[in-house]
Amino acid sequence: MRKQGIFITLEGPEGAGKSTQGRRLTGWLRRRGMRVLFTREPGGTRVGQKLRRILLDHRSGKLDPLVELCLYEASRKILMDQVIRPALRSGRIVILDRFQDSTWVYQGWAGGCGLKLVEELGRAVMGDLAPDRTIVLDLPVKKGLARVRHPNRMEAKPLAFHEKVRQGYLTLARRQPQRIRVVRADQPPAKVQQEIRKAIQDVLEKYRRK
Ligand code: TMP
Repeated sequence: MRKQGIFITLEGPEGAGKSTQGRRLTGWLRRRGMRVLFTREPGGTRVGQKLRRILLDHRSGKLDPLVELCLYEASRKILMDQVIRPALRSGRIVILDRFQDSTWVYQGWAGGCGLKLVEELGRAVMGDLAPDRTIVLDLPVKKGLARVRHPNRMEAKPLAFHEKVRQGYLTLARRQPQRIRVVRADQPPAKVQQEIRKAIQDVLEKYRRK
């Protein structure tokens, strides 16, 4: 695929403030005249929203890890085909709240699916599409969970699972320093936003030069 826009993903453990920061970043870029699409996973499409409900609803109970993996990837494939690729092709900046790194960390690193399977399935769904920059909003797990008022099916998983999620993100960030930047999320929101903007500066400059 010929990609003209830029693709930024936001990642992190529960309660890191991705959605708030994503909205702020979107507003800031739009005020600077840029065309921005902000969406999230799972979700972002009609079917994706239904899958999100299934995945986060307590009534779904304990889903088989492979089933869970397939549902996240199904939501992703639809979003990629219907929304993300067209937006990037038309030159937009796409900001996505969670992407394949979430699957790698939650279903692979911390969950019961092997990383090899997660990576293979991810390749099948994403093809050659990779984020230009990924921001991991990092904070101590207990601080993040304390911000969650009504824990959903994923948030209600044991503390040890969430600790693994955090470690998974930090491991991934160490392995891919070119793409992934870690920003401390347990700071005032305005400071977090400032650091996010700094962390995407180089990709934005490249975009503006196009
Ligand atoms: P959030 O986007 O509102 O934070 O919630 C989505 C939840 O789904 C969150 O607990 C992380 C989880 N998740 C996965 O386990 N795997 C995935 O691939 C994605 C996109 C999300």
